[in-house]
Amino acid sequence: MQGSLLRGQYEPPSWASHLSPIPSHAYSLGHLPTPVHKWNLPNLPDETEVWIKRDDLSGMQLSGNKVRKLEFLMAEALAQGADCVITVGGIQSNHCLATAAAAKYLNLDCYLILGTSKVLVDKDPGLTGNLLVERLVGAHIDLVSKEEHAKIGSEALADLLRRRLIEEGRKPYVIPAGGSNSLGTWGYIEAIREIEQQSKTNKIQFDDIVVACGSGGTIAGLSLGTKLSSLQVKVHPFSICDSPEYLYNYTQGLIKAKGLGYALNTNEELKFVKQIAEDTRVVLDPVSSGKAAIGMLKDMKENPTKWKAQKVLFIHTGGLLGLYDKVGEMVSIAGNWRKMEIDETVPHIDGTGKMFKLSSTP
Ligand SMILES: Cc1ncc(COP(=O)(O)O)c(C=O)c1O
Repeated sequence: MQGSLLRGQYEPPSWASHLSPIPSHAYSLGHLPTPVHKWNLPNLPDETEVWIKRDDLSGMQLSGNKVRKLEFLMAEALAQGADCVITVGGIQSNHCLATAAAAKYLNLDCYLILGTSKVLVDKDPGLTGNLLVERLVGAHIDLVSKEEHAKIGSEALADLLRRRLIEEGRKPYVIPAGGSNSLGTWGYIEAIREIEQQSKTNKIQFDDIVVACGSGGTIAGLSLGTKLSSLQVKVHPFSICDSPEYLYNYTQGLIKAKGLGYALNTNEELKFVKQIAEDTRVVLDPVSSGKAAIGMLKDMKENPTKWKAQKVLFIHTGGLLGLYDKVGEMVSIAGNWRKMEIDETVPHIDGTGKMFKLSSTP
């Protein structure tokens, strides 16, 4: 399995070949390239076109944008002889789900440190959303309270577990929260190569890229890639948790190295996700891409001249399983149902619903 997924020696795009360090290897974990298609959103400014890149369809148990980073991070883990990986995130972290799935593909054990509320930290976290798949693939889950997480920090928590596992004779590899370090950034540098190619194929020159931003690795890769490549586009990150200032500083840090409000939704956001699914058949996740799409449309409404006649590429970064954590809040929004009316006059027709009719013997 591992051998067949290994892409081999990694060759960066020519325009990125001067970056340092360049990853030596990568795994082929995602179903790439992901499709790009026009997205007929309502109420766009005059002549504005929005296209959507379906990184929600990148495979690996609905891993979304994370699988691109993990192609590089997992290659380093295996190159270092790791037998397990550790990572950290919130209780419904999409990154943790992606890491658990990718680890399983590569025969690595996966240890997840998940932050939850103080009152739930010593209770069974259940099987909702991402947790179901994480637990199905056999990830080991350590719960910490959000207070402990904030006080100690992701890095120190991961290091604590790393030392414990080493004492047990294991060889752990630590993946940072969100997979966002300079190595993970290569995932979206590569995505720019993909977008360059798709722009040529579709004969379309994008002016803008819009994407959700959490831990910053996705926009770091996109920004660096667009700056270096032939794609002359502006990247617009829409923050899903931290303040724009924090993200700007952190992402600058990731780019230089080359050389959490999260998961909460208002009723309006959930209604928006429902409406977009109904109008455009694209199901956004309310926590990431949904917030980014709301931010984009709000900005388009408030500043129509900025977006007028632009060709915008919106990257759907996945996170669909997180939607299952919102079912309670979506009851009043979701589509209707009814029991089918059937009265006693409806005749029974023999054989309907059977795949094969037995031929009657003469
Ligand atoms: C579905 C989804 N989209 C987008 C993001 C943001 O990506 P990044 O952490 O690279 O900024 C995240 C993670 O926070 C996510 O889970």
